[in-house]
Amino acid sequence: MEPVIVVHGGAGNDFDDRVAEFRVGVERATQTGWAVLSQGGSALNAVEAAVRMLEDDPNFDAGHGSFLNANNEVEMDAMVMEGAKLGYGAVAGIQRVSHPVSVARLVMEHTPHSIFVGAGAEQFARSMGVPDCPMEELVAGSSTHLLRPEDRIFRPHAGDTVGAIAMDASGTLAVAVSTGGMAGKMPGRVGDSPIIGCGGYADNELGTAAATGSGEALMKVVFSKTACDLMGGGLNPQQAAEEVLRLLERRTGSSHGGIILLNPAGEVGSAFNTNHMVHACISGTHGLWIKD
Ligand code: GLY
Repeated sequence: MEPVIVVHGGAGNDFDDRVAEFRVGVERATQTGWAVLSQGGSALNAVEAAVRMLEDDPNFDAGHGSFLNANNEVEMDAMVMEGAKLGYGAVAGIQRVSHPVSVARLVMEHTPHSIFVGAGAEQFARSMGVPDCPMEELVAGSSTHLLRPEDRIFRPHAGDTVGAIAMDASGTLAVAVSTGGMAGKMPGRVGDSPIIGCGGYADNELGTAAATGSGEALMKVVFSKTACDLMGGGLNPQQAAEEVLRLLERRTGSSHGGIILLNPAGEVGSAFNTNHMVHACISGTHGLWIKD
């Protein structure tokens, strides 16, 4: 199969003045994932590498750019899934790690469980040798959107979750998602991102999806799995992306969201109803494209 990777930097209605920076970060992350695929690496390695890069970039609401909750603390959610055996791992409400996506992968590969939360997730990370990242460093390394008082109130339309989907040469699909959640969220709130079928999904028989947007709404329509089922039912990825977004809007009101999709043939789809959702794709056939 011809490998392909698609990466997004979040669907948002804020920070329109920073789209150029988002494009730089998303392109860099996509190139990082593509380097893995083009050297014969797995889809899972590619999406993890891409999302780690975005977690290190303070422009994105993940890792070192995470929004603060109402207590001015960082609580992050992440998931990975691979489509050959439906492997899945996630963390929710994790603090003091630089790369929640990698802890999610450790959950998938080194435990009999699927989701770890809060202190238990951190304890597990330490047990696996993941270094401690003081919260001050996560905050101090973040960009100005963390520090604006107006961003510390709950804003359901904020949210620039990051995600990556890929297919490798063996035809295996994978997804990785990471987020700091919504600005000013109540402590303990968990969004769609770590929830299987909501923030992301991967099944070699259906396709793979990574979602972004208003987590409470995305969960109600099981956004990512629904999109994959639409592809399984015969829609191409672009049709499925547009259809699942229409469903979100129809069933949850004016909720905002975005999605990137790949089907088992490596075809790409994307849709969003926000001002921007910077996303990029690289494949051997089509090279690089980037859209916002
Ligand atoms: N979509 C990310 C969140 O709602 O937390």
